[in-house]
Amino acid sequence: MADMDGSNETKDFYLDIPARNTPFFLKGSGALDWGMQNRFARIFNAASGRTVMLAIDHGYFQGPTTGLERVDVNIIPLLPYADALMLTRGILRTTIPPTFARGTVLRASGGPSILKELSNEQIALDIEDALRLNAAAMAVQVFVGGEYESQSIHNLTRLVDLGARHGVPVLGVTAVGKNMTRDARYFRLACRICAELGAHFIKTYYVSEGFETITASCPVPVIMAGGKKLPESEALEMAYRAVSEGAAGVDMGRNIFQSEAPAAMIQAVRKVVHENAKPREAFELFQDLKNRRA
Ligand code: R5P
Repeated sequence: MADMDGSNETKDFYLDIPARNTPFFLKGSGALDWGMQNRFARIFNAASGRTVMLAIDHGYFQGPTTGLERVDVNIIPLLPYADALMLTRGILRTTIPPTFARGTVLRASGGPSILKELSNEQIALDIEDALRLNAAAMAVQVFVGGEYESQSIHNLTRLVDLGARHGVPVLGVTAVGKNMTRDARYFRLACRICAELGAHFIKTYYVSEGFETITASCPVPVIMAGGKKLPESEALEMAYRAVSEGAAGVDMGRNIFQSEAPAAMIQAVRKVVHENAKPREAFELFQDLKNRRA
């Protein structure tokens, strides 16, 4: 017990100052419990309201993807620049140092490999293990219009229920099948379905026409997926447009770890996402850092 000797009886209750009541900074997340908001604060930067998430979960269906053959060699040096990591529990446990204190978004659906029908996923992570690993969120692929559409949506709703019970947000990832149209109309549909069914945030692809209608009609934060490798200048332009058109950040994989200078690229992406740098300025930073091998 604290020593009572010398305790000061003079108190100030600041009666002239109203109780502070700061709304949580993320769209659609104000009514979430403290634990969920705290987990979100490990993924999103409260100052910019955005995130630069590094996606390295590709191995869960396609094995050792180019650039991810050795996560210990290629990815660990990028960790200081990532606000959050999207990955599988296998890579997290085996390869990511527990000193990584930012958000981890755990891949929570899976099943088929690239050799099979990709939409035939099931839940591939127990909530208990997500908690044991101190995950900031769980990610589930949703195949709207795909062969196993209902099953993938059921995976989402089941994880949302488990996440709600334990305070873990769920990221709905809108997957596109080989023959599906990638346009604003499709992504509006897919994102809105995920949000209506409880996803706490959504990852979706950028489209050059109408992306702002996707973010506007989705009541929770939308993060831009990276997609196939583009020239660095184009990837930075895409990230710039996405955040200017309402995205709460990016979750990029190949456009970072397959870059000729991954550390330079992720820093340039940060400049766009957190500082609203124009693509040209960010590309100059990329070239400068690349030449200095930063
Ligand atoms: C999607 O299917 C996965 O989550 C990917 O493994 C990953 O997030 C894709 O990232 P990117 O398209 O930027 O390489």
